[in-house]
Amino acid sequence: FIDASPPTFPVLSVSLGFALVAFAATVALIPGLAPAFARAGLKGRDLLKPDSTLEIPESIGLISASVYILLLIVFIPFLFADALRPSKIAEEKTPLTEVASRPFPHQQLSAYLSALLSLYTATLLGFLDDVFDIRWRHKLPIPIVASVPMLIVYFADGGITSVVVPTPLRPYLGQIVDLGALYYVYMAMVSTFCTNSINILAGINGLEVSQALIIALSIAANDLLYLPWRFTGAEWSAGMAYGSVALVERHLLSLYFMLPLIGVCAGLLYHNRHPASVFPGDTLCYFTGMAFAVVGILGHFSKTLLLFFIPQAFNFILSAPQLFGLVPCPRHRVPRVDRKTLLLSPSVAQFERPPSTLATLVLRIFAALRLTRLTTHPHTGVIMEATNLTVLNMLLLWTGPIREATLVWACVALQFAGSVVAFTVRYGLAGLVYDG
Ligand code: UD1
Ligand code: MG
Repeated sequence: FIDASPPTFPVLSVSLGFALVAFAATVALIPGLAPAFARAGLKGRDLLKPDSTLEIPESIGLISASVYILLLIVFIPFLFADALRPSKIAEEKTPLTEVASRPFPHQQLSAYLSALLSLYTATLLGFLDDVFDIRWRHKLPIPIVASVPMLIVYFADGGITSVVVPTPLRPYLGQIVDLGALYYVYMAMVSTFCTNSINILAGINGLEVSQALIIALSIAANDLLYLPWRFTGAEWSAGMAYGSVALVERHLLSLYFMLPLIGVCAGLLYHNRHPASVFPGDTLCYFTGMAFAVVGILGHFSKTLLLFFIPQAFNFILSAPQLFGLVPCPRHRVPRVDRKTLLLSPSVAQFERPPSTLATLVLRIFAALRLTRLTTHPHTGVIMEATNLTVLNMLLLWTGPIREATLVWACVALQFAGSVVAFTVRYGLAGLVYDG
């Protein structure tokens, strides 16, 4: 008997079930628990509404994170069900010794646990940030520390630190370059970038959660491409696809992390979409960012992962002059609202002292590219004001005054377009610079 049907993945069905539970639990828990957050002082003013004194519960990402992490823990026995079940042959022979000698996939378990540890740390950091408003310069290195367990697991797992050189550069660098320790520095930076970049593209209802949701969906779609659809069950179990077994397992692991994440994000978005009744807080940005870093690093696809962060990367580069102190950075860079018409326009950063030559040069270049708008002194030409350097303000410069809900949709469209570009670059253009 030859099994011609494609191999099935029962654990994946369980994970899909967990995703549905994640969605239902988040949708149901938030209305009940959110008032307790507000009573504990975790609340924020919805800055772009007619009544800006109105406060709504904040840090609700903690509910998503708790549901997510708890479900990931409950998932462990399902993930290792095969390894935990005594085999039939073992039962027939000497059960105890046979069972004991069967290797348990400790490597996989340690990868999973290291991922959980990193997620815990990120959640804690995000929550502390919500409570204490940590200065971003201080919180920047923490995700690096949080990713150490994961990097050790990566090291133990064979720790590939070499990269394939694009064809045009091969005459100079060779086919493969081993980055060694630098590769670990790079991966630690991936986790810092993923955790912070969503947080600084924020301030309008539903934006943080939509970004996380679209990135998670994109990663899951990418993982699905690696499942062995074209093999028959017989080929698969005979090991014909042996070379790709590890690859498939890594993408399955990524799916186990992404599916419930999609569930908790969709559940939170239900309450955070415009007009929001709760805010996600930094907790959401940190734990979702870390979940992305985890799957990218443990799944060995960090470069593809970064492709799904094109809008965030652009926003980060645009923000750099404000983040690194070249241009003043007010506490909030969210757009300005006209409380009568509810139309949004770009908010501005004001210079108390004339900007440095470097700042002037950067701002002039940005202004020429229509990324910012400058207000200069009528006589001296010195820059007095610049619109805040974020994608939100840049979009408003291009569109003119629009409503908050419209701007959210514009950002969602941008994120979606980013993913389309990512897939095109990864599976279309990559062939031009890599030969397979
Ligand atoms: C980041 C941004 C900041 C932006 C803020 C908005 C940088 C360096 N920091 O700071 O410019 O103003 O996010 O989240 O780019 N809020 C709304 N509507 C929303 C979401 C948030 O009004 O839909 C307001 C609420 O007052 C809420 C506050 O933003 O309390 C949350 O800000 P927080 O996440 O603490 O700001 P940061 O992440 O530090
Ligand atoms: Mg924030």
